[in-house]
Amino acid sequence: EKGGYDHFMLKEIYEQPSAILDTFRGRLLSNEAIIKMAGVEDNMKKFLAADRIIIVACGTSWHAGLVAEYIFEDLARIPVEVEYASEFRYRNPVITEKDIVIAISQSGETADTLAAIKLAKSKGAFVFGVCNVVGSTIARETDAGAYTHAGPEIGVASTKAFTTQITVLTLIALRLARAKGTMSSSEFRQHLIELETIPSKVEEALKSDAYVQTVAEIYKDSKNCLYLGRGYNFPVALEGALKLKEISYIHAEGYPAAEMKHGPIALIDEQMPVFVIATKMGHYEKVVSNIQEIKSRKGKIIGIVTKGDKSVKELADHVIEVPETLECLTPLLTTIPLQLLSYHIAVMLDKNVDQPRNLAKSVTVE
Ligand code: M6R
Repeated sequence: EKGGYDHFMLKEIYEQPSAILDTFRGRLLSNEAIIKMAGVEDNMKKFLAADRIIIVACGTSWHAGLVAEYIFEDLARIPVEVEYASEFRYRNPVITEKDIVIAISQSGETADTLAAIKLAKSKGAFVFGVCNVVGSTIARETDAGAYTHAGPEIGVASTKAFTTQITVLTLIALRLARAKGTMSSSEFRQHLIELETIPSKVEEALKSDAYVQTVAEIYKDSKNCLYLGRGYNFPVALEGALKLKEISYIHAEGYPAAEMKHGPIALIDEQMPVFVIATKMGHYEKVVSNIQEIKSRKGKIIGIVTKGDKSVKELADHVIEVPETLECLTPLLTTIPLQLLSYHIAVMLDKNVDQPRNLAKSVTVE
């Protein structure tokens, strides 16, 4: 059942090229330059009339929501707010009929996310679900939706659910961008063509596995780790830190790289590994200067960089390369080595990778 892998988590990490392909199969038609998604098409009027989109989710799905915030605002120019479902439901939030609420949930059973949906519906908002489990409660409770089609995710640590959620949300953002005219037809086509190359680029990113293992060996006994990113890769930093915490029990935090100087930089010393996502597209120079600040305080730097990178390589203790892609698609690649890293550290520390202590795969209580 683990298909020759030692753990479900590793199997699911390696399934990502085919899972992402399954997510856009039949939806992304690059020859015809169209995106076909019934749940979006049938409700296009509502999407186009929406004042804003509110995304509600928990954990890793919330991180996918944060990536979606950048994509929707950047490509489709729709204001987005991303909310922890548990906070949203108890905050007496301002919601109107002109809001669209997108709920993201792998299991489709998360209690807080479900309660947030019910609240939004009672205020008249249109609720759209992005779920993996077909026929799950959230999938049934929403007005419309799009499945991720990632296949069953057994490992408690979410991996392929995250990348396929981002894929679905990217497809929706692109479809809306086209409908709203915020993107030219050539830009749109370029995004479709590039999105189609992602499964093979994920495959290539997975080839860093052996090197990631050597990095894991070096840092596995750390007590703390920092993860930094900017823009599209800020949520990836949060996700990298969550992955390490939940399966290896090492304390880790994700930060927007520029926030370092507002406090966390005080933590830096020679004991502190800092994983920095520094891809060529988007804020590269700024991230490089953030790296310099860490280096001058003797922090250990592990850069996640674009293939062929030179500047970060000169500064960092280690670099892990991912293929080049459009900026908005980089999270689909940069997240791969961070998943592998947490996996290998947890295995080296002899932790229960697929069923970490104190956690359940679906959180059906609040
Ligand atoms: O099933 P959901 O996507 O609603 O679950 C949300 C979180 O409980 C989940 O993503 C959790 O954070 C994962 N264990 C993280 O790996």
